[in-house]
Amino acid sequence: MTTVYLNGEYMTKEEARISPDDRGFLLSDGVYEVTPAYDGRLFRFPQHLERLERGLATLRIHQGTGELADVHERLLRENDLESAACAYVYVQITRGAAPRMHQFPEGSVTPTVYAFAKAFSRPPHEEWELGSGAITVPDRRWSRVDIKTISLLPNVLAQQAAADAGVANAVFVKDGNAIEGTHNNLFAVFDGVVTTHPATHEILHGITRAVVLELAGRMGISVEQRAIPVEEFRTADEIFFTGTTTEVHPTVSLDGQRVGDGTAGPVTRRLFEAFVEEVGSRRAAEAQG
Ligand code: PDD
Repeated sequence: MTTVYLNGEYMTKEEARISPDDRGFLLSDGVYEVTPAYDGRLFRFPQHLERLERGLATLRIHQGTGELADVHERLLRENDLESAACAYVYVQITRGAAPRMHQFPEGSVTPTVYAFAKAFSRPPHEEWELGSGAITVPDRRWSRVDIKTISLLPNVLAQQAAADAGVANAVFVKDGNAIEGTHNNLFAVFDGVVTTHPATHEILHGITRAVVLELAGRMGISVEQRAIPVEEFRTADEIFFTGTTTEVHPTVSLDGQRVGDGTAGPVTRRLFEAFVEEVGSRRAAEAQG
């Protein structure tokens, strides 16, 4: 039985009821956040919370977040995920239920706060090393994708295009540059330099991205944050994605062309190993072998 959180209460998922007037349902008027937990411990929760608060403030959704740390901890507990190697907590806050109109509803509307927790798995090492493929797709999203809104239709369509092409990921191309994935950030390695799009309004400022940049810095790996023209991107020695649940994931083919030697590259490997150590999941490391 899955226990979820909805508007101050814990209940089974079957019991959770959301109004058909909810502006999240009608208008995608809301934001969300996904925080990983390793061996039951939330990883970089303050950073995830800060991003959520920034989104709420930008959209002028007046909802405090003071209770959310407890909600995250309790959902992990109630769903027996305290001892899970890898899990995540999803939280979504919408502007609330009100008769449908585009502008903000008049008067005070109580936002809807919904959260659930779930396990995810890290692939075994041999499988991780094989990596996976990606395709490039035009970025048809709006111009503020740094806000983690629940409005994800272009991401859904791009990820479906990847699935239709039989690959794991899609790379958004905007103004001729390879910028990020549908649910993860994008890195390329050129002559040992770890390169990624700068944290502008055009990408989500991924927490995992920040961790990887931090680790690279600590390890003395050169880092460059700049736009990467897609034609240059195709010549990268290594390509990898980062994200919550994606962690650090190698891409070994792009639009059917091999990347590097067709397996996880040396810089990707080093960063993945450092990432695994940083998140500190003994169980995930053991499961991976
Ligand atoms: N996705 N870019 C996009 C478009 C994303 O949706 C995400 C996260 C990321 C990576 O951010 P982080 O490292 O903070 O998870 C980058 C979440 C996990 C999702 O939609 O499920």
